[in-house]
Parts: sequence; C-alpha cells; structure tokens
Amino acid sequence: MLLVKAEGDKVRRNWCDLLGEFRPELVAHPYDAPGLRAEEVTYALAWEPEPGWLAGLPNLRAIFSLGAGVDHITADATWPRHVPLVRMGGEETGQRMGEYVAWACLTLLRQGRDHAVAQAERRWRYKVGEDTARDLTVGIMGMGSLGAAAAPMLRGLGYRVAGWSRSRKAVDGVESFAGEGELDAFLARTDVLVCLLPSTPETRGIVDAALLARLRPGAGIVNAARGMHVVVPDLLAALDSGYLSGAVLDVFDPEPLPAGSPLWSHPKVTVTPHVASVARRRERARYVADAIAAFEAGGALPNLYDPERGY
Ligand SMILES: NC(=O)c1ccc[n+]([C@@H]2O[C@H](COP(=O)([O-])OP(=O)(O)OC[C@H]3O[C@@H](n4cnc5c(N)ncnc54)[C@H](OP(=O)(O)O)[C@@H]3O)[C@@H](O)[C@H]2O)c1
Repeated sequence: MLLVKAEGDKVRRNWCDLLGEFRPELVAHPYDAPGLRAEEVTYALAWEPEPGWLAGLPNLRAIFSLGAGVDHITADATWPRHVPLVRMGGEETGQRMGEYVAWACLTLLRQGRDHAVAQAERRWRYKVGEDTARDLTVGIMGMGSLGAAAAPMLRGLGYRVAGWSRSRKAVDGVESFAGEGELDAFLARTDVLVCLLPSTPETRGIVDAALLARLRPGAGIVNAARGMHVVVPDLLAALDSGYLSGAVLDVFDPEPLPAGSPLWSHPKVTVTPHVASVARRRERARYVADAIAAFEAGGALPNLYDPERGY
C-alpha cells in the first residue's frame, strides 16, 4: 500500500487516481484516509511530512519525494534513514529544466532584460549584442540528472559547454571538469555560469565574490538550483561594478523572494518564481509508478538520495 502526503485533499485523491491508472495493482490512499493500518504501508509519496510520520510506518520499502529536493523530508530528525529515499525525476523534469536553462542563456545573450525594461518605459532602445551562442561557453556547475539534460540542448543552440561535478563525466560534446582542483580552469573559460548543484554544506554560498571574480569578464549567471548557492550581496556588487553582465534567478533564500529585495528591480536581473522545472503531476505519477514496478521486479530504484553524500 502507498500513502500520499501532499497539500490539499483533492490533490491527494488526484495523485491516488493517477497512480492507480499507471499501476492498477498499487493500492494508493491519501495519508489521512480513515481506517489505515500503519503496518500495511509499504511506500510513501510525501511533501513536507509532519515530523515523526514516516518513522511511524514500520514496513516502508521506499519513500518518494514529491519534489526534486528532499530537505523537506531529511529535516525531520526521525526520518528512517535505512529506507531508500527517491528524489523526483523523470524525462519531463529534465526536459523542462533544459528548456529553462536554454531560455535563460538566450535571455542573457539577446538582452531580454534590457528589452523588457525598455518596453515597460515605451522606449525604442535599439540594442544588438556582438556575440552569438557559438562565441560563448556555458559552464554548468552540477552535471547530475538536470545538468546532463540541459547540456545537449545548449549544444544544439551552438554554445560550447563545460561541466563541473565531483566525479568526471563523459557527456558527448561537453568538456568535463571534476573536483576543487579543476574549478579554476572551469571558471576561467565560462561566459555563462549555470548553477545546478544540490544543496549541501559544501555548496552553500559557493557563488560568492571570490568565485565570480574567477569567471570571464562580462559573464552571466543562471541559478536554477537553490537560493542558498548564491551570496546575493556579492552578486549585486559584481553586477553593479560591470564585471558581470546579467543574472537569471529562479530560486531564492527565502522564498517567496521578499518584496523589499533589490533583485526585483535590478536592471540586470531577471527573476522567475521557482518555476524552472515542475513536471506535470501525471508525469510525476508515471515516474513513481514505473519506479515501483521496476523495484518490485528486482530492479534498482532511480535517483536515490545518499545520506552520506548529502544529495
Ligand atoms: N528550480 C527548479 O524548478 C528545480 C527543479 C528541480 C531541481 N532543482 C534543483 O536542481 C539541482 C540539481 O538537481 P539534480 O537532480 O540534477 O541533482 P543531482 O542529480 O544530484 O546532481 C548534482 C550534481 O552536482 C555535483 N556535485 C554535488 N556536490 C558537488 C560539489 N561539492 N562539488 C562539485 N560538484 C558537486 C554532483 O557531482 P557527481 O555527479 O560527481 O556526484 C552532480 O553532478 C538541485 O539543487 C535541485 O534541488 C530545481
């Protein structure tokens, strides 16, 4: 039996219907349905579960996070660490993130923010940049499932692409850099830095003044990972000094971005409200149903969170 802990009664029932559609033999219930017996529950699909709720389900075989992040589960000190924890993923999540990153890089390349400001002021401000995508290198920090999905889309637009991760990668047409020791070389060739790192103690505040200064002059920044990655005062200083040309930000700390934040009205910053990659519920239900089917047939679960690594 699978229990769904999501926001809203209708939403929970819709999840159960969709899961049943993709896998009729899976018995799915909203977590607050009457008459449930904790020992019969083998799977949980959860968003922000109350502390202690997962620990009270003794026969769990796997926990699925309703979103890509799992901090809403691991923040509960009692979450059962011996149970596999699956991060939301799937083809549509990668497709949507790739689209967002491609759009953000093109927005920076084609002065999207300048045009939006000029339009709001009813001004005909003729401005055409020098570069095409072929002249620029996009450096993706974090070549996991989403970085790997974005890279070929950027290549298709003509960008050179470099990737930085903990371990070396072999992605067609992408120059791979690994670990602290190769970060300098990665940054030194990066014209547009795209952050797709996970949130861990090592990556908190990684995009700070020291890192920004190692990028190529005139570089742009895209953050679609987590707000905690970017030190906002350092980013603003680099934009205001002219060292950076622009930023496209989808994630913030805290969210929603407070009304008083200088990011809202900065002429070089494009703000989006954490919308880079939200797969349709139907596609997420398909991903969970397929993962359970493969797991029960003896296969491995996808996209597992590793408590040791922290992502
Ligand atoms: N804005 C949105 O709508 C949205 C939607 C979904 C996800 N996200 C966010 O997107 C980010 C990426 O998600 P994902 O699923 O692609 O993550 P992932 O598959 O876990 O990939 C993480 C990547 O970062 C690398 N990495 C981790 N720690 C590192 C370190 N200290 N130094 C260098 N590289 C490091 C990993 O290296 P290895 O490959 O060597 O392990 C891996 O390549 C996450 O922060 C997630 O929360 C945002």
